[in-house]
Amino acid sequence: MSESVLVARDGRIAVVTVNRPDKLNALNRDTIALLRARIEELASDAAVGAIVVTGAGEKAFVAGADIAELAEQGVLDGQANAHHGQGLTAAIETAPKPVLAAINGFALGGGLELALACDVRYASTNAKLGLPEVSLGIIPGYGGTQRLPRLVGAGKALEMVLTGDHISAEDALRIGLVQGVFQPGELLDQVKAVAGRMLKRGPTALALAKQAVRRGIHMPIADGLRLEADLFGMISSTEEMREGMRAFLEKRKPSW
Ligand code: COA
Repeated sequence: MSESVLVARDGRIAVVTVNRPDKLNALNRDTIALLRARIEELASDAAVGAIVVTGAGEKAFVAGADIAELAEQGVLDGQANAHHGQGLTAAIETAPKPVLAAINGFALGGGLELALACDVRYASTNAKLGLPEVSLGIIPGYGGTQRLPRLVGAGKALEMVLTGDHISAEDALRIGLVQGVFQPGELLDQVKAVAGRMLKRGPTALALAKQAVRRGIHMPIADGLRLEADLFGMISSTEEMREGMRAFLEKRKPSW
């Protein structure tokens, strides 16, 4: 049996591919555990500067949690399944490096929730995005009810959550759910190009800037500003900052 999560390196970019194409890359419990383990390994690997998450094949990013498994769940294992998926999304959000989603087709239910946990999202023109859980008689459980409204506003999020409708890549771009839309054959290279632009920046600055946004968004603004000032102070103690500023003044590229 082939691995349900593949990792490929392209320089300092790691591409993590959910690999169950015959099930449209649906996330069963084992795949969630493996995906989390791979993300955590890459998060602490100094040779990796950015992580791209995508799905195998041309049809799906991830078509959701594995419905065959969910169909068997009761109250307590339903709660445990939600915690299991939320562990994966937390690993992505707390990784001290950019995580980019390359949404190459259906991103439904847990698939959209996986993408929502990534720092930025790009879709192929054929992508369809949605939270269809209510059509199965359940609700989103991997953060969809919390992250989608924070990203696109409560009205649009509630429309998507309560209808269960899929939206097109163009509509996702219009509402700010994805940051760009590309032809299917170009998606991965375009997302790697964005990652490449990030990798030219200071690695500690990337980690702390991500942390400031990720933690600050859940705080009252006064607390968020204090966090920003603390992290700004912390980055000011790094050799990375000295090098970045020296390079500017000496009119050369920084060497991190
Ligand atoms: N869980 C388990 N299996 C899934 C799945 C999921 N979330 N999504 C797709 N699959 C499986 C199908 O059961 C089918 O398996 P089979 O060939 O063994 O029968 C295979 O993937 C292909 O899917 P299929 O439905 O035949 O493709 P399609 O092109 O007709 O439809 C979708 C594509 C995405 C519209 C449809 O698969 C779908 O609605 N999937 C469920 C989406 C969902 O509700 N996700 C939220 C789950 S909480």
